Amino acid sequence: MPSKFWFIIIIISLVLILSPKPVFSNNYLSCSVRSSCGNISDIGYPFWGLNRPESCGYPGFKLSCSESELEITINSATYRVLAINKASQTLHVSRTDYSENLCPTHLINSTFESETSPFRQNGDSQDIRLYYGCQPLTAPQNLTSIPGISNRFECTINNTNIVGYYVTREFAGTVTGNFLRSCSNSVIIPVPNSQVPSLEEGRDADDLEEAAKIGFQLWWSADDALCNSCVNKGGQCGRNLVSGELKCYCSDGEVCSPEKKKTMGKGLILGLGLVVAITILICFLVLWFKGKSLLNQGKKKEDARIEAFIKKFGSLAPRRYSYAEIKKMTNKFNHKLGQGGFGSVYKGKLPDCRLVAVKVLSESKENGEDFMNEVASISRTSHVNIVSLLGFCFEKSKRALIYEFMPHGSLDGFIYDRGLHHRSCRLEWRTLYDIALGIARGLEYLHQGCNTRILHFDIKPHNILLDENFCPKISDFGLSKLCERKESIISMACARGTIGYIAPEVFCRNFGGVSYKSDVYSYGMMVLEMVGGRKNIDVGASQTSEVYFPSWIYKHLDQSMNLNLTGVIAEEEEEITRKLIIVSLWCIQSDPFDRPSMTKVIEMLQANVQSLIIPPRPFVSSPVRSPKTLEHQK
Ligand SMILES: *[C@@H]1O[C@H](CO)[C@@H](O)[C@H](O)[C@H]1NC(C)=O
Ligand SMILES: *[C@@H]1O[C@H](CO)[C@@H](O)[C@H](O)[C@H]1NC(C)=O
Ligand SMILES: *[C@@H]1O[C@H](CO)[C@@H](O)[C@H](O)[C@H]1NC(C)=O
Ligand SMILES: *[C@@H]1O[C@H](CO)[C@@H](O)[C@H](O)[C@H]1NC(C)=O
Repeated sequence: MPSKFWFIIIIISLVLILSPKPVFSNNYLSCSVRSSCGNISDIGYPFWGLNRPESCGYPGFKLSCSESELEITINSATYRVLAINKASQTLHVSRTDYSENLCPTHLINSTFESETSPFRQNGDSQDIRLYYGCQPLTAPQNLTSIPGISNRFECTINNTNIVGYYVTREFAGTVTGNFLRSCSNSVIIPVPNSQVPSLEEGRDADDLEEAAKIGFQLWWSADDALCNSCVNKGGQCGRNLVSGELKCYCSDGEVCSPEKKKTMGKGLILGLGLVVAITILICFLVLWFKGKSLLNQGKKKEDARIEAFIKKFGSLAPRRYSYAEIKKMTNKFNHKLGQGGFGSVYKGKLPDCRLVAVKVLSESKENGEDFMNEVASISRTSHVNIVSLLGFCFEKSKRALIYEFMPHGSLDGFIYDRGLHHRSCRLEWRTLYDIALGIARGLEYLHQGCNTRILHFDIKPHNILLDENFCPKISDFGLSKLCERKESIISMACARGTIGYIAPEVFCRNFGGVSYKSDVYSYGMMVLEMVGGRKNIDVGASQTSEVYFPSWIYKHLDQSMNLNLTGVIAEEEEEITRKLIIVSLWCIQSDPFDRPSMTKVIEMLQANVQSLIIPPRPFVSSPVRSPKTLEHQK
């Protein structure tokens, strides 16, 4: 059919669709956005602020995010939000100003009493009062002579030294009450009931800071029942800012609140018209695509899947760039930094002059999965030992990821001696130790620190980047997997990872389930290589290291408690080496159960080497290298 015909059909359909203006569809979209801050995510109605407009929340529920801490202000007092429980409509909060110090510059009461306040304290907390600027007590009129005063504290507000006391009850009309009336100011803050007995004992003013930090529960009410019924209809809750009433926004652009039923007649006709128009359009489009190219179909599906994925990520995903922008950024792919199975990495510059590394994925069929893994994983992380993703490009088959630029490249360039010109690049033992510790911290964060546990599955020197201070950053999340925290064992269709670093259970189920302990194994292999590479043992390229090296090193560790590798290493170096070796041998135990968690690894790395226990012989497979090589090592 002539293409003009199609063009006309599409235009007509578009006109049909667009003419009854979907005034509310924008509201539906903007209220679908879920906010997150720190480790609290999926924040929706009645909260607003962050990336949710005011019209998607209830008055008084404005949130802000400051240094990964979620905050809410209620009656002028600012609280840190520690948890949100939508099912029970409770917030767990603590006063931001009282968790560090009992003397904030501005003294503000915690109040939830007012008629209009949507928040109520639940029975788990009790108010305590802090009094400021009181008469200093002199003997014999000292603390113990005034019953009920829990504790005394001293601090400085506005350069004035202040004496304060706190009490857990009211003392109106008593000697204590009279004394407290002499204080110039007082503040009420709630503390959890469980903390009241220890506060009454008045052991230490720090107890109050501690109690304030633990925080307390608030109930909220915000048309929640109406909102629930809206959500059940597939809508998104919002609010008419003028009338203050709840609005239910539905995806088709209509308000699906009950009052809309009155104008149903007209709406129905419009709606039907829309449905017909959309159906016709979809039919045409389907036919058109089919006619155009059946071959392309799979690809299109994949693209759509990725587009949907990017949409789902919404605000979480970093900035999206066009391919043209990528080309400009890298000066037409002028400066290549490296090459791998995934594609190539180029040096680039953002418009604000920040240097970046641009990883352009090769146009293979599998790169969609890697691309999504990478964006999904890195977007959820923020840690000094994890590389930051600054942006991405997804334009048909062109896919690229933009990272911060790491001047020292990857770790493998430093741990293998590949000829004379590399010798100068060898790292000090201390630096190697710091790198091992940094990577451990990054991995611990991936395993424990984020809301969703992230398993990397490709830890190896090649994927560790070093910044200008040799601070290591974990990169390359193409094989990573996100899993809910409660899931400890995950299922995997096919083996992933790089030979030499893959944990035995990943390719052979007999060893146990695949879990975060598989990353611990790869980490152990890598640290062994860091030690080995430094020792001039020919481990070869990063891809070909085999388990013979652990055998060798284990034997040496066994023979003498004083691992004497060559006799030239100074004492501190020896201690570091020994520590790294013991820790890594624990990490590469064949039974995942025997391997330490990354938290434990960090603990061991920081412990005294004498306190570390030498692990059992960690490996089951035999050396692959020829015996000759081994002879030579001895
Ligand atoms: C969130 O982070 C805080 C401190 O960083 C931690 O105490 C808390 O347990 C975390 N909550 C969850 C649900 O992980
Ligand atoms: C400290 O000074 C600020 C600004 O001058 C003032 O607003 C505040 O009330 C003062 N705080 C106290 C406890 O007097
Ligand atoms: C806090 O509330 C108490 C009792 O209602 C009041 O006496 C006190 O002045 C208030 N403090 C501030 C800082 O508003
Ligand atoms: C406080 O007063 C009590 C009796 O009123 C007395 O036994 C105690 O020694 C006094 N303590 C101080 C620190 O002066």
